[in-house]
Amino acid sequence: MLAELDKIREVALAEINPIADELALDDFRVRFLGKKGELTKASAGMRDVPKEDKPKVGQKLNEVRNAISEAIEARKEQLIAEKDSKAAQGIDLTLPGRPLPVGALHPLSQTLDRAVQALRRMGFALAEGPEIETEWHCFDALNTPEDHPARNESDTYYFDNGKLLRTHTSTVQIRTMESVKGLPVRIIAPGTAFRRDEIDETHSISFTQIEGLYVAEEVSLADLKGTLEMFFQVIFGPDTDVRFRPHFFPFTEPSFEIDVKLKAKGRADKWVEIAGCGMVDPAVFEAVSKTRGDDVFNPDNVTGFAFGMGVDRLAMIQYGIPDLRMFNDNDVRFLRQF
Ligand code: PHE
Repeated sequence: MLAELDKIREVALAEINPIADELALDDFRVRFLGKKGELTKASAGMRDVPKEDKPKVGQKLNEVRNAISEAIEARKEQLIAEKDSKAAQGIDLTLPGRPLPVGALHPLSQTLDRAVQALRRMGFALAEGPEIETEWHCFDALNTPEDHPARNESDTYYFDNGKLLRTHTSTVQIRTMESVKGLPVRIIAPGTAFRRDEIDETHSISFTQIEGLYVAEEVSLADLKGTLEMFFQVIFGPDTDVRFRPHFFPFTEPSFEIDVKLKAKGRADKWVEIAGCGMVDPAVFEAVSKTRGDDVFNPDNVTGFAFGMGVDRLAMIQYGIPDLRMFNDNDVRFLRQF
């Protein structure tokens, strides 16, 4: 039996070198070491070996098994190394690497950053408030009575505890005036607003707004107009067409909507509503004064303007994007363009 084992080793070691791929090498392993392989078959002969020879034969069996396993491992490594070196052929490893595409900010983030920067340069400080709001901050304090359509169940997302998802960032006007020490107040508040709208080219159930508020002793409509015209020209360029249309908001008087002309490639020019604005209604100052319990926002002494605009629409106009839904589709062919 010792001779038989030597023979198996000899054959195996002779046959392994010509093996040229890993599949064939696996067949080879099965042929010699597998359950029905040569070595297993030979070890069945242990039964007939006289007792005193068993240790010796057993040792030989192990030796041969180890020798073949090691040869297989060694051959495998050789094969892998050969494959690797072939793969690297024709590649100049000394060439400098090509930079990976690292991505970019989403177009909405870019537009928001630019808008915030422009307004901060004009002296507005950043303020913020929660997205889950009280009816007081979203409606009552903003002179929006119980029966106003904006408060309808079907227009706003209400929670069981009476709170709601804010329908506009004007809530931050109230929160800011309730908490500042004194005048002047000159803030902007970028943030998300929510509405139960039908989704279409220009409407969505959640969108980003920038709120603005300036309150001091003699703020005028001229200040409002000058500030916003200047802002839109900084954002869209000096010959941007902007128009103020008389409108109604419960919390401003007089109120306006602002339209900017959308010039999208391959489409007729179109006026797009981009912002609401107006002079802060005295009723808002009264509501704030009630919470504060002091005279800082006495409507006889202070005036102010407020505005709120959709960042999505700013971006649509800036880039000539015809459909709001593209911002959320996550299509890289679209996103790569920014
Ligand atoms: N909150 C209004 C809206 O979402 C916009 C607005 C803000 C109007 C401030 C006037 C003053 O439509």
